[in-house]
Amino acid sequence: MGLHMLLLQAHFFLAMLLIFVTKSQTNFQIAKPNCTDRCGDVSIPFPFGTREGCYLSETFLVTCNHTHYDPPKPFLRHSNIEITNISLDGQLTVLQFIAKECYNRNGTEALSNNPSIRFKEFTVNNTANKFTVVGCDTYAFVSGSRNNKSGYQTGCTSQCASKDDLEDGSCSGVGCCQASIPKGVWEVELTLKSYSNFTESYDNHTTTVWDVDNCSYAFLAEESAFTFSPNSLSILRNVEELPMVVDWAIDRGTCEESQKNMSSYACKSTNSSCKGTDNGYRCYCSEGYEGNPYLIDGCKDIDECENPNLNICEKDRCLNTNGSFKCFCTKGYKGDGKKHGRGCIRGQSLVFKLVAGISIGITVLILLICWLLSILNRRKLNTMKQKFFLQNGGLLLQERLTQRQQLPVIVNIFSSAELKKATDNFHDSRIVGQGGYGTVYKGLLADNRLVAIKKSKEVDPQQVEQFINEVIVLSQINHRNVVKLLGCCLETQAPLLVYEFIENGTLFEHIHSKTKARSLSWDMRLRVAAEAAGVLAYLHSAASPPIIHRDIKSTNILLDTSFTAKVSDFGASRLVPLDQTQLSTIVQGTLGYLDPEYIQTNQLTQKSDVYSFGVVLVELLTGKKALSYDRPVEERSLANYFLLALERSCLFQVLDDNIICGGNSDELTSVAMLAKICLHVKGEDRPSMKEVAKELEGLRLAGKHSWNQTEPNEAESESLLSGKMKAFAIANGDGSSSTAIGYDNSRDHIILPMGGGR
Ligand SMILES: *[C@@H]1O[C@H](CO)[C@@H](O)[C@H](O)[C@H]1NC(C)=O
Ligand SMILES: *[C@@H]1O[C@H](CO)[C@@H](O)[C@H](O)[C@H]1NC(C)=O
Ligand SMILES: *[C@@H]1O[C@H](CO)[C@@H](O)[C@H](O)[C@H]1NC(C)=O
Ligand SMILES: *[C@@H]1O[C@H](CO)[C@@H](O)[C@H](O)[C@H]1NC(C)=O
Ligand SMILES: *[C@@H]1O[C@H](CO)[C@@H](O)[C@H](O)[C@H]1NC(C)=O
Ligand SMILES: *[C@@H]1O[C@H](CO)[C@@H](O)[C@H](O)[C@H]1NC(C)=O
Ligand SMILES: *[C@@H]1O[C@H](CO)[C@@H](O)[C@H](O)[C@H]1NC(C)=O
Ligand SMILES: *[C@@H]1O[C@H](CO)[C@@H](O)[C@H](O)[C@H]1NC(C)=O
Ligand SMILES: *[C@@H]1O[C@H](CO)[C@@H](O)[C@H](O)[C@H]1NC(C)=O
Ligand SMILES: *[C@@H]1O[C@H](CO)[C@@H](O)[C@H](O)[C@H]1NC(C)=O
Ligand SMILES: *[C@@H]1O[C@H](CO)[C@@H](O)[C@H](O)[C@H]1NC(C)=O
Ligand SMILES: *[C@@H]1O[C@H](CO)[C@@H](O)[C@H](O)[C@H]1NC(C)=O
Repeated sequence: MGLHMLLLQAHFFLAMLLIFVTKSQTNFQIAKPNCTDRCGDVSIPFPFGTREGCYLSETFLVTCNHTHYDPPKPFLRHSNIEITNISLDGQLTVLQFIAKECYNRNGTEALSNNPSIRFKEFTVNNTANKFTVVGCDTYAFVSGSRNNKSGYQTGCTSQCASKDDLEDGSCSGVGCCQASIPKGVWEVELTLKSYSNFTESYDNHTTTVWDVDNCSYAFLAEESAFTFSPNSLSILRNVEELPMVVDWAIDRGTCEESQKNMSSYACKSTNSSCKGTDNGYRCYCSEGYEGNPYLIDGCKDIDECENPNLNICEKDRCLNTNGSFKCFCTKGYKGDGKKHGRGCIRGQSLVFKLVAGISIGITVLILLICWLLSILNRRKLNTMKQKFFLQNGGLLLQERLTQRQQLPVIVNIFSSAELKKATDNFHDSRIVGQGGYGTVYKGLLADNRLVAIKKSKEVDPQQVEQFINEVIVLSQINHRNVVKLLGCCLETQAPLLVYEFIENGTLFEHIHSKTKARSLSWDMRLRVAAEAAGVLAYLHSAASPPIIHRDIKSTNILLDTSFTAKVSDFGASRLVPLDQTQLSTIVQGTLGYLDPEYIQTNQLTQKSDVYSFGVVLVELLTGKKALSYDRPVEERSLANYFLLALERSCLFQVLDDNIICGGNSDELTSVAMLAKICLHVKGEDRPSMKEVAKELEGLRLAGKHSWNQTEPNEAESESLLSGKMKAFAIANGDGSSSTAIGYDNSRDHIILPMGGGR
């Protein structure tokens, strides 16, 4: 128990000590060493002092009266002016007596005083103090002396009839009045009078206002120390003094004058400044310092970091400096450390910086490598493209194009982006055809042109070659019955070819679709055949160099809306050098249409196209497919099937029902015979395409035919045909329409431009 008490006491003392320490830390030295800095409740800073050596001059002597007062009271010098506050800002608060005048009930004066006060070195603060008069039958004035100026007098009058007239806080003539005093007043005399002793016309104070109040008051005091209220009259009865603010200054001239003699200069402290007043100067601590500027080292640095109101830093981010402070951020943080600024945010540590640096470096390196690789890749791609280009006849294409400079270049170059957009990025829904060669997409160009875009299925040099080939071939053909090549796109590895779009599909569809076949009349078929034959004849003879299509079949003959034939797919086509009539190639084409002689010998001639065309003719006649596994083995190929039927003289049994109508049997027979000779096993025995074309054209225009379906001898029939063909050839040679008639047996007259037949 005793120990517990002891501990408690120890705690108490510790707490007291702590309080004392903190208090003494915050308070700074205000008086000179070995001088009392306090008298009762009032602190006495230098230049004031209570004894010699402690004050700057006699002016600042403060007498502390210990003998009569407890706590002791300070008085100015040797006067009875009590000091209640001394401020280092240059103000001094003293107590000033109130002027009072009281009356007896019989109207005689009971009490009257006229207090006065004089300072000489100090002046009454004219803004902080007001001359106030309180009473109901009263006038009063203040007068006295001013610095280097003539005297002054000012005052006011106050009246009231009853207590009800008085108003709270209103000091403007009813029961209370106020007046300001001029600057520089150092002597004050108060005079207070009642009107009842002044003029007869006024009633006795007693009779009228005695009941309201029997006293009047006047004082020059700090404005804030008095607020008028109806009770003020009675309250003031017991008040003797009120505070008054007095300005003090060092009366040694101006700052500049004083600074010349440092020993007499009052602003002794470092970090202090001087400011002149009307009657001297004052010293102030510089911004950021506090303390007593009149003492050596009196101005102390303010620790702004101690007081949150004095700094704008975040908590614990404040660093006090001499006269100021700094906001900072601890290591690893960045920012200004200010509460309403950016504050402190975690910054980059060295490790972070290192890691970031390395990552950036690596990224840059990777990007660099990627860039280099892409450049290499592009170069490689370019060389590859170049290689492809060269390998696959690109050079040839170039050569051809330059050779044919005199002709307008019909090949447009499209960008891959353009074509991607046209085909909805080669969407499956845009596919209109697919085959061994690749895929055909329907596309809509930006200018609303419908086009067919042929795209190689795989990146196969063979196919790329075909595409290039087709460009070369098609660039040389300008024929209304050939699908027009609008351009190509060589940006992609597999070139894209852009054609006019043929709306009506392939001849194959029209022959082999039951509904479509019905509407494909014989006349139309004959016209299509004639047109297709015309194209082939043109390719074989008029084109320079001659061209072998090599893949004639019903699927490669397209029909437009007016059923005009458009031959397409020149991917397998070959240009025949002028000094050659046959080419040794790998057999290529479509089964069912392939020339058997070509299959055996690998020798490609124009007659291979004639054979294939023959199969198309038979297809048109019979409406059957070129190759059908439904038929017996020997009849699987339509050519064989047809030839067998002819041998058996049952042509009309194999013809398509859709084309047999009254009066065209002769025509049908003629075409069948033409097909037959086209299908001759020996290429030599087949007619040329020109002959075939003329025959078909002749049949179409004149409705005539000249040979006999019952011709038993193949050789004879061939010669007969040859003769007829000759006639057409001659007729056409003049540029007239091929309606000429007449026969010529001399085959020598049939001259093919590419030297065919040699
Ligand atoms: C203060 O008083 C002490 C003794 O009371 C004395 O030793 C010291 O010198 C005095 N200091 C000054 C500045 O007068
Ligand atoms: C203290 O005050 C009393 C009364 O005002 C006065 O008589 C006395 O002389 C004063 N003492 C000093 C030391 O001023
Ligand atoms: C003394 O005056 C200063 C400034 O006028 C004021 O801040 C302070 O509160 C006053 N002290 C007292 C005890 O009235
Ligand atoms: C004035 O009136 C108050 C009460 O109202 C009274 O106490 C006081 O003695 C009177 N003074 C004189 C001088 O009659
Ligand atoms: C008025 O009254 C006071 C006391 O109230 C008295 O001393 C004084 O003699 C009176 N004066 C007259 C003239 O009656
Ligand atoms: C009026 O004033 C005169 C002096 O001016 C004075 O002698 C007299 O006593 C006063 N009378 C009253 C009633 O106060
Ligand atoms: C009067 O006192 C106020 C503070 O109460 C002060 O700001 C002002 O400067 C003083 N006037 C003069 C002339 O010193
Ligand atoms: C004041 O009143 C008293 C008594 O009421 C009266 O004797 C006196 O004559 C009056 N004085 C004046 C100046 O009216
Ligand atoms: C400076 O002031 C001191 C003390 O006030 C005085 O003794 C001295 O003569 C002055 N010197 C000059 C140059 O005014
Ligand atoms: C305060 O005084 C010291 C010493 O004269 C000086 O180095 C410092 O710069 C001063 N500080 C300010 C804020 O003027
Ligand atoms: C007042 O005037 C006298 C001379 O007329 C002069 O010496 C003194 O400095 C003046 N005081 C002020 C405060 O202006
Ligand atoms: C302030 O300046 C004084 C010298 O004038 C120096 O001793 C002190 O360390 C400084 N304080 C700070 C917080 O910079």
